[in-house]
Amino acid sequence: MARVEIKTNKQLQQMKRAGVITSRALDAAVAAAVPGATTKDLDRAFAATLDELGGTSNFYGYYDYPATICTSVNSEVVHGIPGDYVLKDGDIISIDGGAYVIDPATNRQWHGDSARTVLVGSNVPESRRELSEITRAALWHGIAALAHAKKVGEVGLAVEAFVREEAGDKYGIIEDYVGHGIGTAMHMAPDVLNYAVRDLGPKIKPGMAFAIEPMLVTGSIETKVLADDWTVVTVDGSDACQWEHSVAVHSEGIWVLTAEDGGASELSKLGVTVKPIPEA
Ligand code: MF3
Ligand code: CO
Repeated sequence: MARVEIKTNKQLQQMKRAGVITSRALDAAVAAAVPGATTKDLDRAFAATLDELGGTSNFYGYYDYPATICTSVNSEVVHGIPGDYVLKDGDIISIDGGAYVIDPATNRQWHGDSARTVLVGSNVPESRRELSEITRAALWHGIAALAHAKKVGEVGLAVEAFVREEAGDKYGIIEDYVGHGIGTAMHMAPDVLNYAVRDLGPKIKPGMAFAIEPMLVTGSIETKVLADDWTVVTVDGSDACQWEHSVAVHSEGIWVLTAEDGGASELSKLGVTVKPIPEA
């Protein structure tokens, strides 16, 4: 596999700017995800916040992708395209978005990428609430593992172990799509799997950054891509869910770039203390 990009703390600070902008834009898209809104409304809210805060979408135009976020509803796993679909009370929707900022000194792009799941309205079935909660917790367990891991594959071990300990075989973990390295591009080496494999992949070193993004389903993990060439759905029509954060490993520890508090509140529950990225 290609070598993993190593960032200086100063470069990780640029990524933090991109991450915080991504997080605020997701706040706006999440707030817009109410019954009666279209998925295009969510895209507008996200794009407007990027404009306001000086970020540029890294989704828009990516292999000709036509929007700034992916909106994946119910049996859609990832890469749903915002459009005229009207959100209904009871829907589960994952909203995935990102942004880059440009370092004026070098003209380089620094990227952020994050996803959250929203339970729409007040009558969401318990099964969907649980699916989102387990997926979210699986993400945080994967991030927590990164704090002490020696190799990238330990993230997937932790995600899978958590899901199995918590719920046995109730949920499938998607294998067709995985997380990734992130930095001067949105998608970089290495792959970050959400399940255990024997080859644990590259050694983790300070200066690496990863997008961790578990996707869980209530049925079979078989997926297919719809005729729009983007939307990935479960073949059996079962519900799907995704949560994602971009996380930096720096000289002092880890920092969740796409969480305003660096992940402190969630990770402290798991016994991990995040460390601010040193200024220089
Ligand atoms: N951000 C997605 C991921 O989490 C990829 C989106 S591809 C795009 O890796 F074309 F929709 F932007
Ligand atoms: Co990603």
